[in-house]
Parts: sequence; structure tokens; C-alpha cells
Amino acid sequence: MKTLQEKVEIINRAITRYLPEQELGLYKAARHLIKAGGKRLRPVIAMVITEALEEDYGRIMPALVALEAIHNFTLIHDDIMDRDEMRRNVKTVHSLFGDAAAILAGDTLFAEAFKLLSMCDVGGENIRKAVQVLSDVCVKICEGQYMDLSFETKMVKEPEYIEMVKLKTGALIAASSSLPAILFGKEEYFQPLWEYGLLAGIGFQIHDDVLDLIGKDIGKDWGSDLLKGKKTLIAIKAFERGVELETFGKQKANIEDIKKDVEKLQECGAIDYARNKAQEYIEMAKKRLSCLKNTQKRREIEELTDFLIKRSK
Ligand code: IPE
Ligand code: IPE
Ligand code: MG
Ligand code: MG
Ligand code: MG
Repeated sequence: MKTLQEKVEIINRAITRYLPEQELGLYKAARHLIKAGGKRLRPVIAMVITEALEEDYGRIMPALVALEAIHNFTLIHDDIMDRDEMRRNVKTVHSLFGDAAAILAGDTLFAEAFKLLSMCDVGGENIRKAVQVLSDVCVKICEGQYMDLSFETKMVKEPEYIEMVKLKTGALIAASSSLPAILFGKEEYFQPLWEYGLLAGIGFQIHDDVLDLIGKDIGKDWGSDLLKGKKTLIAIKAFERGVELETFGKQKANIEDIKKDVEKLQECGAIDYARNKAQEYIEMAKKRLSCLKNTQKRREIEELTDFLIKRSK
């Protein structure tokens, strides 16, 4: 998608501008992951939605960077929690700089995000509402991440998993799709655009769980969810179907044993089940876009929504 690439470049230039490098070593840790790239999906979603609302994304560029900053904060802390070594094809912040510096790096990005949000070229009342939405979202992410952790030691069913991913992943994508409505004072669009992002985010996370098992060159630790004993939708389905996994929750295992478990997950249909679920959520998400004018821009968002579960990393 050419337009996607162009938008990513615009975001990358804004990141360099709004999140500059600084002398203090803290900033080496705080900028390490964001400099390594990534898909920039959250700001891109906000940009395309802004265009569909016929507004100028230049006025909310700091908010777009804020979304990416929040995302990177959560990733840095997530990698500490998941004890992962690689992300975006580079070593994770905690494995390079240590846990303490990684916690501070995440905290720095978290605080910088709210400063950026306050810098948007829109009315103060709109910014106030946006701060409320984004801070609520940060709390939701913590709730979701806490559930994700607590699920490691309990039996989980599909509805609980959906609730967990709605919080840990859906909420920030929902904020990305609906903040433009708030910032430009078009509140009638907020609810459907929030629901759009929430549903798309669920599909997106299910696909992330699939890639953890069958992705190639995803730039992050392969099989991490299996080794950490994560209750992904795939694991939940497999256990429901009586499958026993050798490496589940083992923390470390050799590649051959992980491959055997992945084969079992494929054979029992758990991976296909998850793929179909992801597709269902993506279709539900696209229906919410009927709130937007039926233009080329809306089709661009639909295409982007499909990409969320077609992507290979
Ligand atoms: C990874 O998000 C974390 C999840 C919520 C699954 P992305 O897949 O958007 O990661 P980057 O930003 O492209 O690295
Ligand atoms: C999503 O879950 C992480 C966040 C919401 C921060 P994962 O733990 O599956 O994300 P990855 O796979 O490490 O990117
Ligand atoms: Mg993780
Ligand atoms: Mg995690
Ligand atoms: Mg994952």
C-alpha cells in the first residue's frame, strides 16, 4: 500500500521532531525502540480517519506522535513482563539497558505523550476531552495486561480472553480511530469510531497471537506465548479439544519441541479457529465505518482494516 508508506514517512519525521534525542543516557533507552521502526499503525489509522472526516491531520500531528509514544511505552514494559529479547528486529530495551532503565524509558514516553497531546492546534476543551479518553485508555491497557498475566495461572474461556485483549490492545486502537473525532469537535462520530477500533483491535491481537506461532521473521521472539504459558485463543481452543502441549509454560525449550507443539495446534484446528475469529472481528469493525461518508477515504480505511490480519509481521 503506497499511501500507507507515505503516511509512515510523515509520522517518522514527526517523531524525530517531537521526540528528539537528548544527551542524558535515559533518552538512549527511551528512543531505542521507537527509532527501530514498527508499522506505526495507530497514528496511521488516526491520520486516515482524520482525512475521512475531512480535517487536516497537520493540526493534530503531536497527538499522532502521542499515540505512537503510548504504544511504545506499553511495548517496553510488556517486554519486561514477557521476558522477551527481540522486538522490531532489535534487542528489547530491558535486555540492552536493564529492567530499571527500561521502566524509566517507558515512563518517559508515557509522560511525553500527554505533553504532546496538549500541543495540538485545536480548542482547549477538545484537548481536555482527549486527555480524558487517552488516560482512561492507559488504565484499560494496565487492566488488560494485568489480566494477561493473571491468566498464566488459571483456566480461561474465550469470553474472558476477548475481554482481556479488548483492554490490552483494543483500547489504544479504539483511541486511535476515535480521537480525531474528539479533537476536531465532531463528537457524533466518536462512538462508532471507538467501536470500530475496539473490534479491529481484537482481530489484530488474535492475528498477533497467530503470528507468534506461525509467523516468519516477525522481528520478535518466536513461540513466546507458548513458553510463557499465555492463554491465547489458540491455546484455549486446543485445551478445549484435549490437546497436550509439551512446551506450554516451560519458559525455555528447544526449537524442535516448539515446532511439534505448533504442528499439534495446526492439526487440532485451533489456529484456523483463531484465524476465522480474527476475520469475524475485522468484518464487524468494517461495518462500523458506515458512519463515514462513502468515499475513496473510507475504502482506504477498509483496506487498512483488512491489512490488520493479512500482515506477516
Ligand atoms: C504489537 O503491536 C503489540 C500488540 C498489541 C500485538 P504492533 O504489531 O503494532 O507492533 P509494531 O508497532 O508494528 O512494532
Ligand atoms: C500485547 O500483547 C502487548 C501490549 C498491549 C503492550 P503481546 O505481549 O502479545 O504483544 P507482543 O507480541 O509482545 O508484541
Ligand atoms: Mg509481549
Ligand atoms: Mg504481553
Ligand atoms: Mg504477541
